[in-house]
Amino acid sequence: MSNEIKIFSPATVANVACGFDVLGFCLDTIGDEMVIRKTEEKGIRITKIEGYDLPFEAENNVAGVSALAMYNALQPDCGFEIEIYKKIKPGSGIGSSSASAAGSVFGMNALLGYPLNKTELTNFAMKGEALASKCEHADNLAPAIFGGFTLVKSASPLQILELPTPLDVFATLIHPQIEIKTSESRAILPKDIPLSNAIAQWANVGSLVHALHTSDYDLIKESLIDVVIEPYRKQLIPHFDDVKKAALEAGALGCAISGSGPSIFMLSKSEATAKAVENAIRQVYSTTDIQFETYVSKINVEGIRVL
Ligand code: HSE
Repeated sequence: MSNEIKIFSPATVANVACGFDVLGFCLDTIGDEMVIRKTEEKGIRITKIEGYDLPFEAENNVAGVSALAMYNALQPDCGFEIEIYKKIKPGSGIGSSSASAAGSVFGMNALLGYPLNKTELTNFAMKGEALASKCEHADNLAPAIFGGFTLVKSASPLQILELPTPLDVFATLIHPQIEIKTSESRAILPKDIPLSNAIAQWANVGSLVHALHTSDYDLIKESLIDVVIEPYRKQLIPHFDDVKKAALEAGALGCAISGSGPSIFMLSKSEATAKAVENAIRQVYSTTDIQFETYVSKINVEGIRVL
């Protein structure tokens, strides 16, 4: 086994409309690269960060915090250096902190000969994620580490379910270049919700899970509805309603906020429809003075991978 590993740590979409804090899926091609290196000197050191201005002190960096949690638990007879080539903008709503938090522990695990399973890795990565979002949640980490669609059945003790990915599902994303902090977009949410909304939401989560198992695209469309979180958070995202209307008219199965925003995701049946949806939403944002980026991605069923 070499003393160095280079990995691709993917972006992810949390919540998937109805599944706040439990559902997520993994994106392809959009993601960070990281190099993890075994060293004789003990401890965790972040030696390089490119792309964004992030802290080098391990205890202040999400990749460092998850690495330290794993390191302190395993107490290996070596240390690790971490290089982060950050491509996912922090605060974009597509799992930037999760990619870093998951990447460091995934790389260390590989260099140590895979002593930990994916759930154990996710547990350590949650410590890093908590630094960024002020709470331990795994709905971005689980799809980053397991790939595909995932459901966090329980955060403590951690239990992750891997859901099937229908073959023709493609994602479209728009990332308006504004920053929304997860902690702030969680702070605006109500502590209690009406029972009627809870009933609608858990019906949609159940039917979405069934639809993924049966590749029922019509049912995916009927289930990608969020009556609990979106009404509060959409006010943070300029032109959210216009984007959603344009996406659905262009044939998307559904459209909702990606994680805590500001990115918005759509799912479509076929890559051609996902590209038509991309064109439609680009037209909405082109009429504004907000900078934006769009992506079309297949669902990444592998998750983090060695390069
Ligand atoms: N489920 C979390 C939220 C994801 O929506 O706040 C944050 O990335």
